[in-house]
Amino acid sequence: MTTIEFEDVHHHFGERVVLRGIDLSLTEHRVGIIGGNGSGKSTLARMINGLHLPERGRVLVDGEDTRKRAAAIRRRVGFVFTDPDHQIVMPTVAEDIGFSLRRAKMSKAERAARVAEVLAQFDLAGHADHPCHLLSGGQKQLLALAAVLVTEPDILVADEPTTLLDLRNARRFAEILRRLPQQVVVVTHSLELVADFDRVLVIDDGKVAADDAPAPAIEFYRKLIG
Ligand SMILES: Nc1ncnc2c1ncn2[C@@H]1O[C@H](COP(=O)(O)OP(=O)(O)OP(=O)(O)O)[C@@H](O)[C@H]1O
Ligand SMILES: [Mg+2]
Repeated sequence: MTTIEFEDVHHHFGERVVLRGIDLSLTEHRVGIIGGNGSGKSTLARMINGLHLPERGRVLVDGEDTRKRAAAIRRRVGFVFTDPDHQIVMPTVAEDIGFSLRRAKMSKAERAARVAEVLAQFDLAGHADHPCHLLSGGQKQLLALAAVLVTEPDILVADEPTTLLDLRNARRFAEILRRLPQQVVVVTHSLELVADFDRVLVIDDGKVAADDAPAPAIEFYRKLIG
């Protein structure tokens, strides 16, 4: 398994202090991050692949500093944004998945087979030639997840990946995460999604307020919001 480390990470946007002294060593398979709106979860998640660099302190992925090795780390860490429109780039569903594989060394036939496999896995098999902009919100979210997972990143970081998914697809996604061999970090407001994760962090006002197994962490969060 990979290791993600935060060493005394502080960050602020303008006057607003967003992260206050985060120290973490994440080695578990599935790590969930929960907490209130504006508590700093997305900022923290974006630091794992160098989308934000810490003002103070360091973030390390397998010992490599995001400040010094940003490009290499970004290739290893797949990031799924909350808004799928931010990452869908090609006109059709199959083309979008194929675009993710543009650097993969495989034949045209292998690529087509891989695209078909991933579309089936994400319940999009019937939409291969569909224009992406005509997909429903949930289908776009599935496409964005598929387009990142098809590249088989070493680590998957997903920021609210199930907000638009129906119950069936949310469960399907949870099952995909369970089976993924890679380390997964998921920011979510779905307490159900993280219920069987290996570790759950509760972020409050830029700090790790709880760091525990899912049940006690969720209980802490419930009490925190009163
Ligand atoms: N690029 C930015 N510029 C200025 N302020 C920002 C920026 N990104 C985030 N913030 C501020 O930082 C704080 C933390 O934001 P963040 O997106 O990390 O919260 P969050 O925990 O992910 O919340 P949510 O659950 O609503 O997604 C918020 O007060 C937000 O307004
Ligand atoms: Mg957020």
